[in-house]
Amino acid sequence: MGLKFQVFVLCLSIQFLIIAATTNSDDAAALSSLKDIWQNFPPNWKGSDPCGGNWDGIQCSKSRVISITLSGIGLSGTLSGDITTLSELQTLDLSYNQDLTGPLPSTIGNLKKLTNLILVGCGFSGPIPNSIGSLSKLVFLSLNSNSFSGPIPPTIGNLAELYWLDLADNKLTGTVPVSSGNSPGLDMLVGTKHFHFGMNQLSGTIPEQLFSSNMSLLHVLFDSNNLNGSLPTSLGLVQTLEVVRFDRNQLSGSVPANLNNLSNINELFLSNNRLTGPMPNLSGLNALSYLDMSNNSFDSSTFPTWLLTMQLLTTLTMDSTQLQGEVPTEFFSLPSLQTVVMRNNQLNGTLNIGSSHSTQLELIDLTGNQIDSFTETTGAENVEFILASNPICEESGATRDYCSPDQENSNYSTPYNNCISSPCPSDQISSPNCHCAHPYKGTLVFRALSFSGLNNYTYFTSLVESMIRAFQSYQLPVDSISLSNPHWDSNEYLNLNLQVFPPSGEDSFNLTGIYSLGFVLSNQTYKPPSDFGPYYFIAGQYQHFAGESGSNKSTNIGIIIGAAAGGCVLLLLLIFAGVYAQRQKKIAQKAYEQNPFGHWEQNKSSGSIPQLKAARCFSFEEVNKCTNHFSETNSIGSGGYGKVYRGTLPTGELVAIKRARQGSMQGGHEFKTEIELLSRVHHKNLVGLYGFCFEQGEQMLIYEYIPNGSLSDTLSGKTGIKMDWLRRLKITLGAARGLAYLHELANPPIIHRDIKSTNILLDDCLNAKVADFGLSRAMIETGKDHVSTQVKGTIGYLDPEYYMTQQLTEKSDVYSFGVLMLELITARRPIERGKYIVREIKTAIDKKKDLYNLYELLDPTIGLGTTLKGFGKYVDVAMSCVQESGADRPTMSEVVKEIENILQIAGLNPKAESASTSASYDNASKDSLKHPYDNVDEAFDYSGSFPSSNVKPH
Ligand SMILES: *[C@@H]1O[C@H](CO)[C@@H](O)[C@H](O)[C@H]1NC(C)=O
Ligand SMILES: *[C@@H]1O[C@H](CO)[C@@H](O)[C@H](O)[C@H]1NC(C)=O
Ligand SMILES: *[C@@H]1O[C@H](CO)[C@@H](O)[C@H](O)[C@H]1NC(C)=O
Repeated sequence: MGLKFQVFVLCLSIQFLIIAATTNSDDAAALSSLKDIWQNFPPNWKGSDPCGGNWDGIQCSKSRVISITLSGIGLSGTLSGDITTLSELQTLDLSYNQDLTGPLPSTIGNLKKLTNLILVGCGFSGPIPNSIGSLSKLVFLSLNSNSFSGPIPPTIGNLAELYWLDLADNKLTGTVPVSSGNSPGLDMLVGTKHFHFGMNQLSGTIPEQLFSSNMSLLHVLFDSNNLNGSLPTSLGLVQTLEVVRFDRNQLSGSVPANLNNLSNINELFLSNNRLTGPMPNLSGLNALSYLDMSNNSFDSSTFPTWLLTMQLLTTLTMDSTQLQGEVPTEFFSLPSLQTVVMRNNQLNGTLNIGSSHSTQLELIDLTGNQIDSFTETTGAENVEFILASNPICEESGATRDYCSPDQENSNYSTPYNNCISSPCPSDQISSPNCHCAHPYKGTLVFRALSFSGLNNYTYFTSLVESMIRAFQSYQLPVDSISLSNPHWDSNEYLNLNLQVFPPSGEDSFNLTGIYSLGFVLSNQTYKPPSDFGPYYFIAGQYQHFAGESGSNKSTNIGIIIGAAAGGCVLLLLLIFAGVYAQRQKKIAQKAYEQNPFGHWEQNKSSGSIPQLKAARCFSFEEVNKCTNHFSETNSIGSGGYGKVYRGTLPTGELVAIKRARQGSMQGGHEFKTEIELLSRVHHKNLVGLYGFCFEQGEQMLIYEYIPNGSLSDTLSGKTGIKMDWLRRLKITLGAARGLAYLHELANPPIIHRDIKSTNILLDDCLNAKVADFGLSRAMIETGKDHVSTQVKGTIGYLDPEYYMTQQLTEKSDVYSFGVLMLELITARRPIERGKYIVREIKTAIDKKKDLYNLYELLDPTIGLGTTLKGFGKYVDVAMSCVQESGADRPTMSEVVKEIENILQIAGLNPKAESASTSASYDNASKDSLKHPYDNVDEAFDYSGSFPSSNVKPH
């Protein structure tokens, strides 16, 4: 049946992270040929073993190069076809190396594993090769701010996983490609969230076919191109849209009425076109904060009354839009209003902002209208009024402030932090913490802000704070940052100068610091506060590298990318992993020196030693026979521990045999522990032990055979079993019951210590069975509520409190179980693409919104589109399990109760899922599940239309 029985991997992910293998020879050759044509590569690129030699900017897995991140270090040269030899490459980030020039090699399409292709702000030119459409795993494609020319390759439409598509600020020409017949087009990108095409030379009409209601776009930016014709009415079908920019084109015709359906739009820019017809009625855009309709040829009209209901509006710009009549006073009482610019219209009468005007008002610019009187209002002293070229100013002889256009730019600059800066050496700059250094510099460019008032520094302060927080959590060597000179460029993008300062005591960054900073800013890893919207960053070249090769002390980018996920938790884990692996080795050696069973055999009659009840001892010969001499065809899995074989007992029963390899991590003592524990516990939701073999230097455990493999296989889609919401709930309940039994009913209680999705096995009826007690720990020391112990477990699931205190309690399992619950709804590994699931969910959660605002993070096959009954409660339970402090987490039996309640809400009888009567469970599950391999949920199978990484930068 080809079903995989996934196994009992012991210690595994940790080991994987610390192995430094020598580099695959093709990969090594590819990197050295790149090195031959590049200048300014990192100084520690020496020798011929990039992985083993820890070359800066290179990350490897099992001797293969999987990531190259070298942003902003002044690399120069070209990108030769050699790069395409790196067939395992997943991330390529060469951003901000302006001297990397020439075309992208057309063989780039061979990098089939590539998920992130990030070449922001380099000097690449020539056409974007069509073969880019073969990079079927691509999630991030950022080629913005280069000199690419030629058309947008239609094959980009084949990139079903694409989340972020940024081709802005190039010299792209031609029309926007859509599919027809067999040829692909951008209309196929139904899972993509970001279309950034601004600042190119795209022409022709925008195809009606480009947009559809299937799409999930958040940002559509086509500003500053040469597009003509009318706006497609299909745009009004994309309900998810938040930011829409079509300004600075030659669009004509009237604005489609159904644009008014897009109730999620925050920012809409239609300015600088040739739009005609009536000023559109956009009363349905309740979320609108920034509207720019300037410089179009709308029919003349009075001030649109629907604007009076836009409660979130901060900015209205309507220059030259044929407005006439008076501006209603009540408009200025919209609570968020900051900026109103309506120059060169025929507005007349009196300007009166009323006494209850918005307290956030900064600028009202009505230059070039017919206004003949102005009611000054108290409390508006900080508002700048500009009424030049209105009758009121022409009559009174331009003596009043508001008649002389004097629009100040904001002179915000991050202030010093309660310190006094002393003079710095000539080429250094004082940081906000008053130490002199060479900062990393660049320009942050925001393409669509929700605000316009640059004199309210609150926004900038919160940006500074959020950046510092982010950089710290990524473990970047950053002391402080400074922002300055906010100003609008000619495209109405807000530019901000950014300076990032190295830690005090150091006056410059090393290479690793620079490209780690670059990566965080080029890869949208850093997300600014939502008021700032999408951004891009253009780094300056950094020329003051610390030391020569900082490579010895430097962490590698892999760790920093990882740190982006787990924050300090992960770094500490890595340190501990090294120590741990060494100690493990010693323990294993010791264990082999003495036979742990010797003692056991002798004391068999003694009551102080746990008795083996069900488990029996198999001879090597027996096992050898039942696995057909451990034949490869019977091999059903492998892990750090060794291999797992399927065997058939003489009775015909199937068993799974876990055979340790020589010197494997589990020592004799641990082996014995596992046997003792497993033979003592019997529960429907725990994998049962048949026996063991400890002969001829072999360690084998013989378990009941669980046919459907692990939960991890099922979530990743390997087993083909469809996992709807109810099935996930049942699996959660099963696993919770198994664990609750270990904690509360086993005697002595058992802490599992390695709860994770590869250790939850599923039987024919999708009963969850908890496996792998290799790391388990009995709470033998009575009267204590914890055991002090070496930290063991798997990164991503590990309880942070446990590794810090080294005190193991049941609550550590509860934490891992919480992570598992999150994995169950998202189908993501706990740390995936540098994101730590707990943090992702914590950040995204908004209980007021549908599905707690987690829609984007959820596994689409859960049945999005159906009502997930009890979903909120489920997330509540999961989040309570991953509370920082163990004391705040529930016990497993409380978790079981909660999940039983949720099952009831979801319409199932949790008692029918009873642990005690497997017959009734079988019936119940057969009714609701049909055959496990039936694709009963075809209708909810969205796979392929959702990117696997839903990083939401905005
Ligand atoms: C705008 O449209 C809404 C609903 O579509 C309607 O109720 C309202 O009267 C319209 N407003 C104007 C000023 O036409
Ligand atoms: C303002 O302009 C409108 C339309 O052009 C006109 O009907 C109205 O009388 C004017 N109001 C004043 C106060 O001039
Ligand atoms: C500045 O902006 C913040 C955030 O929108 C707002 O809460 C605050 O009231 C504003 N301050 C002033 C003085 O307008």
